[in-house]
Parts: sequence; C-alpha cells; structure tokens
Amino acid sequence: MNALMLSMVMAGMTGVAMAKPVKSDNEAWKAEFPDQYASWATAAETSDIVDLLESNPNLVVLWGGYGFAKDYNKARGHYYAVADVTQTLRTAGPMGDMDGPMPASCWSCKTPDVARLIESEGEGAFASKKWGAWGDEVGNAIGCADCHDSESSAVALSRPYAERAMAAVDMTFDDQPANIQAAQTCGQCHVEYYFDATNNNTVKFPWDNGLTAEDALAYFDGIGFADWTHSVSKAPMLKAQHPEFETWATSVHGEMEVTCIDCHMPKMKNEQGREYSKHNMGSALDNFDQSCSSCHDSQADMEAVLKANKAEITESKLLVEAEVIKAHYQAKAAWDAGADEAQMKQALTHIRHAQWFWDFATASHAIHAHNPGEAIRLLDKAMDVAKQAQAELDTVLSKQGVEQPVALPDLSSKSAAQKALGMDMDGFEAEKATFLQERADKEWPARL
Ligand code: HEC
Ligand code: HEC
Ligand code: HEC
Ligand code: HEC
Repeated sequence: MNALMLSMVMAGMTGVAMAKPVKSDNEAWKAEFPDQYASWATAAETSDIVDLLESNPNLVVLWGGYGFAKDYNKARGHYYAVADVTQTLRTAGPMGDMDGPMPASCWSCKTPDVARLIESEGEGAFASKKWGAWGDEVGNAIGCADCHDSESSAVALSRPYAERAMAAVDMTFDDQPANIQAAQTCGQCHVEYYFDATNNNTVKFPWDNGLTAEDALAYFDGIGFADWTHSVSKAPMLKAQHPEFETWATSVHGEMEVTCIDCHMPKMKNEQGREYSKHNMGSALDNFDQSCSSCHDSQADMEAVLKANKAEITESKLLVEAEVIKAHYQAKAAWDAGADEAQMKQALTHIRHAQWFWDFATASHAIHAHNPGEAIRLLDKAMDVAKQAQAELDTVLSKQGVEQPVALPDLSSKSAAQKALGMDMDGFEAEKATFLQERADKEWPARL
C-alpha cells in the first residue's frame, strides 16, 4: 500500500480528513519565486495611516454603538493587515482566549495562517473561538498561501467560505477561465461578508440572491440579521464591509472582463527578460502604461476623470450622511417622547436601509474608480429612503407633541462626536495599551 492510500485508509478509519499542509510562511516561497516574492514584499512601502473618522466625523455618528465608531483607518498595504487588526480599538483588549468582542473569523482576511488553521483545525472549530484565542498562531502577512495552492503553487481559493459563495452566484471556481479565477482570489477578502452565528460564526457572503446591494439587503432582511443596534436611534443596523468584488463585477470593466489582476497585478519583466506578475497590489495608477493604456489614452485625462468622479461622489455622500444623521436623532427624540415599537418600526427599517445603501457605496474602496455610476445610483437611493424615514418620523414626532427641528449635539469633530455618543475613549485606549504591552507584544509572533 502506498503512502497516499495508507493516509486515505487512516482518514477513513478515524473519520477525519487528512489535512494537507498549507505553507503559510511567506519566506518558504522566496527561493523558488524570487520575482513574485520581491514585488510582493514592496507592499510594506504603503505604510501611511489615514484616520477616516478624523477626516469625516459623520462616520462616528452613523456607526454609533458599533466598533467602527471607535476607530477606522483607510486601507493600506497587505503587509500591515495583521498589525492593523491587532492594533485597532475594534478588536479591544482580550487578555484571555475567551474574552473580547470579536470572533476568530475576524482574522479571516488578514493572513494565510487562517488558511492553515482552517485546514488543520476544521472551519467550524477555528471559527467558534474568539479572536484572541489564535493570536499566537498568526504571524504572516497576507501572502502566497492566501491565493496559491501550497503543493502545486497554482492560483487557488484558500477559503472554503469563498468557494461556497462563488458557487452560489454561479461562479464555481473550477469552472471559471483563468482570468476570473485570478480575480476570485481577491474576492476572498474584498467583499461584503458577515459571521454566521447559526454556524459557529464562520464567514458567509450574503450572496444567495446575487451580488448587488439590493440582493444582499434582501438576504439580510430575510434572515432578520443585524450587525448591531444603533446607540442613538435603536435601529437594527447593517455594516457594509468592503464590497470591491461586487461593485467591480457589475462595472463596465467587470462586464468586459478587465479584472482586478489586469489593473493591480500587471505583467513585468525581470532582468533576464522573464515575465512575472507584479505582486505589490497597490495603486493601479502606478501601472497606467501596462494596465490602462491599451484602452485609455492619457494618464492625465484619466486622473482628471477620477478626481471629478471622487468629487461628485463625495458631495452626494455628505448630503446623504446629513439626512441619515438627522433621522437617527429624530428617532431618538421620538423614543424619548414615549413612542412605542409599533410606531417606530417602519421608520427604523428605513433608517437601516438608507444607511445600508450609503455604506455599500462608500465602504467599497475606490468606487470612484471601480464603478462611479453605481455609487451615485446607491447614494440617490439612500437619499430617497432617508427622506422616507424622516417623513415617517415627522408623523410620530407630531403625534408625540415634539417640536421640530430636533436639535443635534456638537458633531463637528471626531472627539466631539464620540463625546456626544457617550463613548469612553480613554477607557478603550487604556484597555488596548495593556493588551498590546502585556499580551500581543510578549506572546504573539506578529511584528507590530
Ligand atoms: C492576493 C492573491 C495573491 C497573493 C497574495 C500572491 N499571489 Fe501569486 N498570483 C496571484 C494571481 C491572481 C496570479 C495570476 C496572475 C495572472 O494570471 O495574470 C499569480 C501568479 C503567480 C505566479 C505565476 C507567474 C506569474 O508571476 O504570473 C507565481 C509563481 C506566483 N504568483 C507566486 C506567488 C508568491 C511566491 C507569492 C507570495 C510571495 C504570491 N504569489 C502571492 C495571486 C496572488
Ligand atoms: C486574505 C485577504 C485578502 C486578499 C486575498 C486580498 N486582499 Fe487586498 N487587502 C486586504 C486587507 C485586509 C487590506 C487592508 C490592509 C490594511 O489596511 O491593514 C487590503 C488592501 C488592499 C489594497 C490597498 C493597498 C494600498 O496600498 O492602499 C489594494 C489595492 C488591494 N488590497 C488589492 C487586492 C487585490 C488586487 C487582490 C487580489 C489579487 C487582493 N487585494 C487580495 C485583504 C486581502
Ligand atoms: C479598471 C482597472 C481596475 C480594476 C478592474 C480594479 N481596480 Fe481597484 N483600483 C483601480 C484604481 C484606478 C484605483 C484607485 C487609484 C489607486 O489605485 O490608487 C483602485 C483602488 C483600489 C483599492 C483601494 C486602494 C486605496 O488606496 O484606497 C482597492 C482595495 C482595490 N482597488 C481593489 C480592487 C479589487 C479587489 C478589484 C477586483 C475585484 C479591483 N480593485 C479592480 C483600478 C482598478
Ligand atoms: C480592455 C480595455 C480597458 C482597460 C484595460 C481599462 N479600461 Fe477603463 N474603461 C474601458 C471602457 C470601454 C470604459 C467605458 C467607456 C469610457 O468611459 O471610456 C472605461 C471606463 C473607465 C472609467 C470611467 C468609468 C465611469 O463609469 O466613469 C475609468 C475611471 C477607467 N475606465 C479607469 C481605468 C483604469 C485606471 C485602467 C487601468 C488601471 C483602465 N480603466 C483599464 C476600458 C478599459
């Protein structure tokens, strides 16, 4: 009996599938693939931290009662994902394996060690623990084993939940052409997802109805899911994560099968003239000549278009934010004046929906480049639904004898907004500092 058959028999006897080893250590790939490794390693160069709550305090209010109101920075290089998730106030300061607000699935899009742990422990056993339970296993930056099979080095999905989701939208990985398979490796992480409490808090993409914001909302409404209850309005809220795959899939480029890879991973030549894919995965504009010039003439014109798109989206987004915030405070005034759940239900549902459309558009990184038309469509929709919520709240407020307009607190800066929401920022920061000093820096392998 050869080794493979023996292992199959053993697996059959014990009822446990034999895990195939996942090479999560990026260094283990370096010698064989020096060009890919070297270009991958340059992701460490995009290191700037940009505090998005500071630049737009509306976000604090819109995410009131949820972790994102504490801390939210712009995405930076893949190299930093483990450090960033460890340092953010959102993961708090779990000193023991069963402490803390976040489940283990929170590591899912940060490191190839998750691929290894899912393979060795099983998906449910990995996910059913808390985030803090796996810190001592996680040290590798997003890397080779996230997107490549450890044995054959072929492009592969390393996350079983992504494989299931792709099948649900008729994009079963094995049936796709190579360029779509390549884009699907990005779609393991650059997507909307949630943690399924009915299945050990494993990751699930809300794609059972399709890829649009409307499809995902219908899915979440259908299962009665909420990420959190808003601390001002008490509305059952949803947080959109970063649906780049979804907003790309429905874009002009998506329809023409110009993929993430075409724009973010162009082909380069090494010193010997051998072609390889640039693995930096940073700014697509650095690649204009390789990635865009076959279809677009001028980089300057392109940058002007991008700037105009961004300005238009920002203007529309700020208008929507003001109206959704107003609705949250109208709802609070209605509760304070004694409104009951039956009176509030419709308006709270509309607040949930308005904010969802806003978030789906704006949380999708660089939607001004990927799908500006979709951003404007969703923001227009968010505006309509926010106005509906306000009209419903007008009725409740006048019934409860509350005078309008409802006064808003000072929300003019990140710290003012956090104060208005009664958030104990000093407490959160002290807890984090203790955790970093006493636990993460001492016991966890990741370099922070
Ligand atoms: C986020 C996903 C991702 C990560 C991380 C990643 N790759 Fe890739 N890699 C790809 C994709 C997608 C392709 C295919 C590109 C194409 O077909 O145009 C690819 C192609 C390759 C190829 C084939 C030759 C080439 O350059 O096109 C090699 C070899 C390779 N990668 C090695 C590595 C190594 C080594 C690492 C880690 C240092 C790594 N990859 C990290 C997604 C990834
Ligand atoms: C294992 C999960 C994962 C995979 C797979 C992945 N990403 Fe990312 N990506 C992230 C995370 C997390 C961040 C944010 C990191 C941070 O800010 O700490 C990010 C950030 C980025 C950024 C911003 C980088 C910068 O310099 O500002 C780009 C661009 C990007 N990813 C493109 C891609 C592309 C293209 C692919 C597929 C080839 C891909 N990613 C695959 C998780 C992933
Ligand atoms: C037609 C080209 C194109 C395609 C296709 C494309 N992108 Fe981009 N992407 C861009 C441009 C342009 C930007 C914004 C400018 C820049 O890169 O700095 C961007 C920005 C991003 C960012 C944000 C970087 C930041 O610093 O904010 C992420 C993340 C990202 N893309 C991921 C993806 C993923 C994942 C896919 C596929 C699902 C994808 N992109 C498809 C061109 C593209
Ligand atoms: C295979 C051809 C092709 C490639 C490659 C390509 N594009 Fe496009 N792009 C198009 C077409 C076609 C359109 C739609 C017509 C138009 O607006 O010019 C478009 C539109 C756009 C738009 C406007 C989107 C809108 O709806 O306003 C932007 C921005 C854009 N492309 C950016 C890029 C960038 C950045 C790259 C390279 C990283 C790139 N494209 C690569 C074909 C391509």
